[in-house]
Amino acid sequence: MVKLIGKKISFAVFISGRGSNLKSIYKFSKKKSSNFDLKLVVSNKKNAKGVLFAKKNKIKVKLVNFKKKNEAERDILFCLRKNNIRFVCLAGFMKILSNNFIKKFKNKIINIHPSLLPKYKGLNTHRRAIENKEKFSGCTVHFVTDKLDSGKIIMQKKVKVFKSDTPKKLAKRILLEENKLYPKAILKIISKI
Ligand code: GRF
Repeated sequence: MVKLIGKKISFAVFISGRGSNLKSIYKFSKKKSSNFDLKLVVSNKKNAKGVLFAKKNKIKVKLVNFKKKNEAERDILFCLRKNNIRFVCLAGFMKILSNNFIKKFKNKIINIHPSLLPKYKGLNTHRRAIENKEKFSGCTVHFVTDKLDSGKIIMQKKVKVFKSDTPKKLAKRILLEENKLYPKAILKIISKI
């Protein structure tokens, strides 16, 4: 495990919903060995479960309205700078960030996707994997670029697809692996950020 010396690296998590990955990243960040500090949660949904979790745990929350995308992104960038955020984890954030935003945080935004990329970019990954009779699916943590779900892969975890699987069952098993993989992937790249 990477041991980091000195000040904790502040980071933000962007969410739109349930926030199970947010929870697992937060728990991991509280460990002595982590050396990164979850300082901010950004959400485009004010009633998201993840927002409630953040508030309960006294993590700063920034709510944004993506109907005016340019303004929302300007607002977020200002907030990231003000809080000295060094990197960003997207975790179920259902908005597409502009190239301009991504450029400003180049190689400092990562995402988790519920498939073995480059397979099944985009939505409905589990249904498509089952329909194609895949033997394995899984999850991927990758850098965010201007092309959807296409940036450099940081880590992946394979999950077996059973004949009896429904998209819901498969999603549940993959999510458990996502929750374990995301903190590991952060740890892997943090020293290079
Ligand atoms: C996860 O399946 C993630 O891979 C996808 O959105 C879902 C978010 O789940 N991008 P949660 O909100 O972290 O529970």
